Amino acid sequence: MTDASDSRYLLISDLDDTLLGDDAALKRFRDFYRNNCASRFVLAYASGRFYDSIRKDIERTELPSPDYVLGGVGSEMRRYPDGEPVAEWIEHISANWSAKKIREILKEYTRLEPQPKASQSDYKVSYFYPDAGREALERLRADLKAAGMRIKLIYSSKRDLDVLPEQVDKGQAGAFLAQWLGIAGSRILGAGNSANDATLFEHGIKGIAVANAHDELLQHAEATGAYASPEAYADGVRDGVIHWLKEMEATHG
Ligand code: GLC
Repeated sequence: MTDASDSRYLLISDLDDTLLGDDAALKRFRDFYRNNCASRFVLAYASGRFYDSIRKDIERTELPSPDYVLGGVGSEMRRYPDGEPVAEWIEHISANWSAKKIREILKEYTRLEPQPKASQSDYKVSYFYPDAGREALERLRADLKAAGMRIKLIYSSKRDLDVLPEQVDKGQAGAFLAQWLGIAGSRILGAGNSANDATLFEHGIKGIAVANAHDELLQHAEATGAYASPEAYADGVRDGVIHWLKEMEATHG
């Protein structure tokens, strides 16, 4: 860990239906980022998907090349493009965690359908659980807790259930990355569209909800003071970055 001596900004953005989803908007974002941000920003992509799948998107689309990838809802942290994992993060999230035990306990839950192997890792156990109610999720959380598991549950898009180490979510991964790089917490921006992005509006992160965000995230934006952009997809991220830069420049001169 270093002191907050790096004066760059850290932009953490979700991909699916945030930067990705409108190709023309993504091109505008790419040009904006190149001309206005690249020299003073660290860019990290935070996705529910893992590094290899994200790398393919970076290679085949107009996504600017990031500096880091926070894959598997923050359970994976790698430098881009060499894929080098941030060893300190793995160390940080390994304590009190056993994916195997969680899989065993949740086998009993017949309504949970394990997601494909490509969506699973040693630090991310994911299921499809369509239309799970709040109570059912609370019961599941209580059962895992009673079995001594220290976990974080993230339920998004009324379907995806991720069970992660307690220390993991996109926001916590982003805050850790900033601290590790020596970037002050007040210089982090986070953009997203669905519930697995909610923590990008926490930990002091300056949040951006794109206009096409799910209600679950728009409500969280209102509650946390994140910026709800009137623009969608990558245009919303661009608009949000402009909004926060203006605000920060007005405060700090
Ligand atoms: C992505 C991942 C999936 C995860 C979801 C929500 O779709 O592929 O595993 O459950 O994001 O985080």
